[in-house]
Amino acid sequence: MSKPLNIGMIGYGFMGRAHSNAYLKVPHFFDLEYRPVLKACCARSEDKIKEFAAKWGYESYETDWRRLIKRDDIDAVDICVPNNLHREIAIAAAEAGKMVLCEKPLAMDTAQGEEMVQAVEEAGVANMVWYNYRRVPAVTLSKQLLDEGRLGRVFHYRAQFLQDWTISADLPQGGTALWRLDAKAAGSGVTGDLLAHCIDTALWLNGPITSVCAMTETFVKQRKHQLTGQVEPVQIDDACAFLCRFANGSLGLFESTRYARGHKALYTYEVNGEHASLRWDLHDLHRLQYFDHRDDSLVRGWRSVHVSDSDQPYMGHWWVPGLQIGYEHTFVHQVADFLDALAKGQPCEPTFRTALETQKVCDAVLQSAREGSWVSIG
Ligand SMILES: NC(=O)c1ccc[n+]([C@@H]2O[C@H](COP(=O)([O-])OP(=O)(O)OC[C@H]3O[C@@H](n4cnc5c(N)ncnc54)[C@H](O)[C@@H]3O)[C@@H](O)[C@H]2O)c1
Repeated sequence: MSKPLNIGMIGYGFMGRAHSNAYLKVPHFFDLEYRPVLKACCARSEDKIKEFAAKWGYESYETDWRRLIKRDDIDAVDICVPNNLHREIAIAAAEAGKMVLCEKPLAMDTAQGEEMVQAVEEAGVANMVWYNYRRVPAVTLSKQLLDEGRLGRVFHYRAQFLQDWTISADLPQGGTALWRLDAKAAGSGVTGDLLAHCIDTALWLNGPITSVCAMTETFVKQRKHQLTGQVEPVQIDDACAFLCRFANGSLGLFESTRYARGHKALYTYEVNGEHASLRWDLHDLHRLQYFDHRDDSLVRGWRSVHVSDSDQPYMGHWWVPGLQIGYEHTFVHQVADFLDALAKGQPCEPTFRTALETQKVCDAVLQSAREGSWVSIG
């Protein structure tokens, strides 16, 4: 009989749904010592959170996250709210002795992130940040191939995350659904929102980044604020591109924008090594493209590996070889890994401390763009 782990989730938007789905699915596909229980969810609007609780099967709801955190029947607090709330909630939850699962980016900036790391480590509570792309089977397979040394020495790492949803100058900023355009709620624009994913994956696959040189642009300088109705300056980066050096001697090239007409969520990366290269594309997330120069030259070429076989990462838990899974499964995998690590008394990556490294790179990128020069990451 598995042990219950009572979840208290704050926020019921995009991530609130993705996480709730993962908690519900995980015990059906993974044999684990712990079983998540949807104990309570929380948001400010009673009507909306009541409806959400009923729809997803939460046993109860709260309209103030402070009350949720104080409850004795909550073991783990899951933070699915805009970035400006992560710090306060995470620290209060850790001080109340709760495990903390926090959405990315960890914080608004490195200083906040450091406080959060200190809080969870002093409290000795399990913690994790939802950089879920690590758990796309094809991405996890990339990590396996790199760790096995199949690529040999790595020369290049390049990543992009392209969207097009903020091109209209009439789009307001701030408030429901549009908080990502408001620097006070988001911290930054594409750097903290999209590049943070690319950076987390890159640090995981290719090791630390030592220096960056970036440029950012805000294409629409003023927008009406949805909450105040006032036209206010836009303070987020609409687009960001940066060069970097990795500690292993390889060179990195990253680009993100919300102004690439035609692209909705085009996250891609490519790694070029001495013997082999690999590349991945979120729009085709179950495939890993692999080129190995050591192949017989008559048939050498890029192969498209359909990552669906049971000996490939996570796939043995799902259907039969050849049948693929999708975006939502990355969250199921992350919950499964968290519960497994908990049973073993081990940390689940990325922890707050690990995610702080991504925050440091984001801060260095924004600093470099402001100053117009290379910035080292200590
Ligand atoms: N891992 C990923 O791939 C991924 C994807 C999207 C978003 N995110 C992150 O998840 C977080 C939430 O993003 P989202 O897309 O779900 O946003 P969203 O706008 O869809 O949902 C935000 C939720 O926060 C709630 N909220 C706001 N203020 C609150 C308060 N004071 N108390 C309680 N609830 C409050 C809102 O009611 C809403 O339910 C952000 O940090 C974002 O960066 C991560």
